[in-house]
Amino acid sequence: MCGIVGYAGQVETACGKPLEVCLQGLKRLEYRGYDSAGVALTAPGMDHVAVRKKAGRLANLVEDIEKKPMPLATVGIGHTRWATNGVPSDVNAHPHTSEDGKVAIIHNGIIENASQLRLDLQAEGYHFSSATDTEVAAKLLGKIVDTIIREDGAPDLFKAVRRMARMLKGAFTILATDCRQPDIVVGARHDSPLVVGLGDGENFLGSDVAAFVAYTKRAMEVDQDQAVCVSADKVIVTDFNGNVVANPKTYTVDWDASAAEKGGWDSFMDKEIHEDPAAVQRTLLGRFDKNGDVALDEVRIDEHDFKAIDKIIVIACGTAAYAGMVAKYAIEHWVRIPVEIELAHEFRYRDPILTPRTLVVAISQSGETMDTLMALRHAREQGSKVLAICNTQGASIPRESDAVLYTHAGPEVAVASTKAFVAQITAAYLLGLYLAQVKGAMFRDEIRHILDSLKNMPRKIQWMLDTQTKTIHQAAERMLNAQSFLFLGRHVGYPVALEGALKLKEIAYTFTEGFAAGELKHGPIALVDEGEPVVFIVPPERGRNVLHAKVLSGIEEVKARGAFIIAVAEEGDKDVERYADVVFWRPACPTLMSPLVDVVPLQLFAMDMAKLKGYDVDKPRNLAKSVTVE
Ligand code: F6R
Repeated sequence: MCGIVGYAGQVETACGKPLEVCLQGLKRLEYRGYDSAGVALTAPGMDHVAVRKKAGRLANLVEDIEKKPMPLATVGIGHTRWATNGVPSDVNAHPHTSEDGKVAIIHNGIIENASQLRLDLQAEGYHFSSATDTEVAAKLLGKIVDTIIREDGAPDLFKAVRRMARMLKGAFTILATDCRQPDIVVGARHDSPLVVGLGDGENFLGSDVAAFVAYTKRAMEVDQDQAVCVSADKVIVTDFNGNVVANPKTYTVDWDASAAEKGGWDSFMDKEIHEDPAAVQRTLLGRFDKNGDVALDEVRIDEHDFKAIDKIIVIACGTAAYAGMVAKYAIEHWVRIPVEIELAHEFRYRDPILTPRTLVVAISQSGETMDTLMALRHAREQGSKVLAICNTQGASIPRESDAVLYTHAGPEVAVASTKAFVAQITAAYLLGLYLAQVKGAMFRDEIRHILDSLKNMPRKIQWMLDTQTKTIHQAAERMLNAQSFLFLGRHVGYPVALEGALKLKEIAYTFTEGFAAGELKHGPIALVDEGEPVVFIVPPERGRNVLHAKVLSGIEEVKARGAFIIAVAEEGDKDVERYADVVFWRPACPTLMSPLVDVVPLQLFAMDMAKLKGYDVDKPRNLAKSVTVE
């Protein structure tokens, strides 16, 4: 969704830093939205907030500021937008200002009672120039500040923001600045993320730590329904009634700013796919005790509660949900308890059966996906324990869960999720093996054997990247004009097929469908015509795996109807070689490990197709990295 950054520095040393921090922060947050961008700056002596905003990419705003520089300032707020309310345009871009231009705000979320508030304000003579809910909040905030001046004799932005927050319905993170208080930035959040960056003689605000990690790695959490006031040397957190929060939680960000830079790659997506092996490796790191058993020390659910678990429900969206689907096959096989996988947005509206013995696993790269957050709240309200598998330290989903297993994939910047997928599968497998260990569902030796296979996977993924890239690129060149693709797989190959189809549709804008290969003759085969590209995930373990033969017969069926076959198959699989037009080879590995390698060529294929078509693979149209509205 939208990206938000705020900065407060020394009043005495007014400089260009607020603008620099805002633009730097927006550059790193652009993955959250890229319809338009804007900044607001304040310094002592100003009689209104200086605002600049532009539709389109951040580069448009930067160019505009270069042509016509903005004044030096002490505080600043910046916003990169993913439009939910009003089309992307200069006028709808944030910041929005109060009627007198003295207050400016930026906002992430959706204010549900904006229409009524707008009517009320219009009736009082307020004018609106944009179609956004944010302008409504800006006008409302201006009005509240004026009321406070009348009541108290002086402006009090912190008090005004809290008063406004109590009036708003919906989801919001709001940052505000007032030219009469040029030393502070005030924020408030409800169902939308906000984090503080703690500096020396300066403090920061951001929708996530990427906004300020280039300046400080010390961060402070702002919880649900809290407001925060930052100045150069002070951070005060309160609830919406003004009660001060005694010791807000602080933490140190565990990655460097350089991890969120392209580092020589021409796109983040390319870089992140090539980090697949490291993402698996880092997620395994430190998760074993000296005996080689799985040790998930940071998981705060005790062994006794784990032993009692009789059902798992995985809640997630998109790619994270497909990672959960893969994990279902493995965990049910290892632990022998039922695992349901449910799209988070469907979950809480269908009255799911939850008990204290149900473990709900919320998988989320960003940790901010609103659908998943709402689903986990519902699960906890029903008395179930929630364990988050998350890639983002301090995000809302891990914070609101009973336990967290972090994936250590490093920051994922490209909108399409890649390395997070393999890291999520790895973490879910660790959880499954830990459960098997605690419940005694498997012999120690069996678990060790599986762990050895898992530890080998980074090397196998690397082999795939080292040897198959050229074939994949050539296949993308050949397929450039294809209008649609079918992706088919069985068992763990089925979620991989779904993920391959999702990658191609979201970044190459090609119509794709993913199916369970067994479904082929129940309908999808009607779509197969001369030249139709069909991608098959062929299970490994030839000869020993009955599914191999079944997928092969599916290949034969569509081949007979003229399909163009792309297969992901085990190295040396002669049966596949006979029928497939193109094969992306995987090194031999056990079936349950195969998704970790099989997804890699599909990620590369989607990226190559998108690049050959001239699309920006990091910022696909209409999409945002974290979807913080329901
Ligand atoms: C696809 C993609 C999305 C996300 C989904 C969940 O490439 O990125 O489908 O996987 O929006 O996001 P997180 O994992 O942040 O909850």
